[in-house]
Amino acid sequence: MLNIRRSNTFQHSALGILHFDPFRQAPRYMNPTDLIELVEKHGQQHLLAHWSKLSPAERESLEEQIRAVDFEQLEKLRTGESKTVDWSETAARAKSPPAVRLQDAAKHAKEAIAAGEQALKAGQVGAVLVAGGQGTRLGFDHPKGMYPIGPVSNCPLFQILFEKLIAVGRRYGVRIPLFLMTSPATHDETVAFLAEHGRFGLPEEDLVVFCQGTMPAVDRATGKLLLAEPGALALSPDGHGGLPAALARSPAASIIRERGLVHLFYFQVDNALVTMCDPAFLGHHILSGSEASTQVVAKQDPAERVGVLAEIDGKTQIIEYSDLPAADAARKSADGSLELWAGNIAVHVFDADFMLRMTAEAGGLPFHIAQKKVPYVDEAGKLVEPKEPNALKFEKFIFDLLPAARKTLVVEVDPAEAFAPVKNAPGSKTDSPDTVRAAILAQHARMLREAGTSLADGVEIEISPLFALDAVELAAKLGQGAHLTKTAVLK
Ligand code: UTP
Repeated sequence: MLNIRRSNTFQHSALGILHFDPFRQAPRYMNPTDLIELVEKHGQQHLLAHWSKLSPAERESLEEQIRAVDFEQLEKLRTGESKTVDWSETAARAKSPPAVRLQDAAKHAKEAIAAGEQALKAGQVGAVLVAGGQGTRLGFDHPKGMYPIGPVSNCPLFQILFEKLIAVGRRYGVRIPLFLMTSPATHDETVAFLAEHGRFGLPEEDLVVFCQGTMPAVDRATGKLLLAEPGALALSPDGHGGLPAALARSPAASIIRERGLVHLFYFQVDNALVTMCDPAFLGHHILSGSEASTQVVAKQDPAERVGVLAEIDGKTQIIEYSDLPAADAARKSADGSLELWAGNIAVHVFDADFMLRMTAEAGGLPFHIAQKKVPYVDEAGKLVEPKEPNALKFEKFIFDLLPAARKTLVVEVDPAEAFAPVKNAPGSKTDSPDTVRAAILAQHARMLREAGTSLADGVEIEISPLFALDAVELAAKLGQGAHLTKTAVLK
């Protein structure tokens, strides 16, 4: 709360930006001396530049936001003082990680699928969907899960993901709870959208929505915190690595315990092709005794902008593409293939115990720094829309949990079957809505072919997960030898 001591310090303070005593106009805020001292101490006086024009509620909220900032930590992050890893040196020691490669996966598929299915049938599996990102590259003004992506149906990403989850639950005769992480940027709209659509059929008791924390954005050159509005800091979600802390703050952690969940299937809101609660992946995780497993795809080109799983000093971890020196990215194994081949697709299985253990240590995950364009209000109160990255954003990444796991596993999957993320704006060559729609149609065309169905020329078929999850289900529904002559959604 505000300190309401009255003193003269304010009028004589070094706050050159405040030309008059704004607090005189609002008796409740007679003299927040220690707030002024706090911002002065850290060279952040500009944060109070618009104080005189703020309502009491706005002042209270701005003060709360300012007091929540760890200024020392931000400065250390900005100046690189708290940098823990020298990647150029570490990447030189990175080796190809132990992994279940695609060809081996097929060999052991039966055994793995059986183990995964057993866990699913026993109700040991919960799903964790992270959907707190701002989706800046996509340029969509709503949470990414609301993005219309169905190639024929135009249905939103959320619908595809929710229906996949419901379909997997039905197949194994269980209800799989979904733990959905939002952020202040996505929470309200996500909750309203899901309510409006009846959670696409997911029972209310099976959806636990919880909100992640935020970090302030700072000016890249000066370290000054940016104001999104005259009375609000520019805050961004603290990264998908904010998950353990967010779980701990919400009822989700105790619900995981109460429901007796053993394995958490983690996925991201933008991957329309995710193999939901993939039994084979779950099975490999279980059979190997891993605490944290990761799906990967084989990199084709050293320059691909994807993090790589690598073994470093006996531990499997991820090196972000921005941290990986080009020479290491291009390093070859004896057989001529890329040594650091294992591209992260951000699909994991975590042991529930491991995740809950991590909630206690969540604060320990390092921050990664990204340079971004962050609009801000300047001292004259004008909104500035930068054309070039002007700010630093600080995010934690979920994969930084990997080194803490007693055992990890890497499992390769075929991207055509398991990975099509919506990252970039329509029209972009990669990871755009267009490429994702094409990937969904291609997968569904393969399923139809495998099910013995043929398509007339130019016909596009989208298959709702509730209609069929795979070719076997599809064949059972359509019968052998069906011929489809019209573009349609099978649902
Ligand atoms: P990305 O790192 O691709 O970020 O998120 P983004 O917000 O979707 O897109 P850009 O980078 O701004 O364009 C990968 C996944 O992690 C989630 C996203 O919602 C997405 O599912 N995420 C990201 C969070 O849940 N919280 C965050 O703070 C960041």
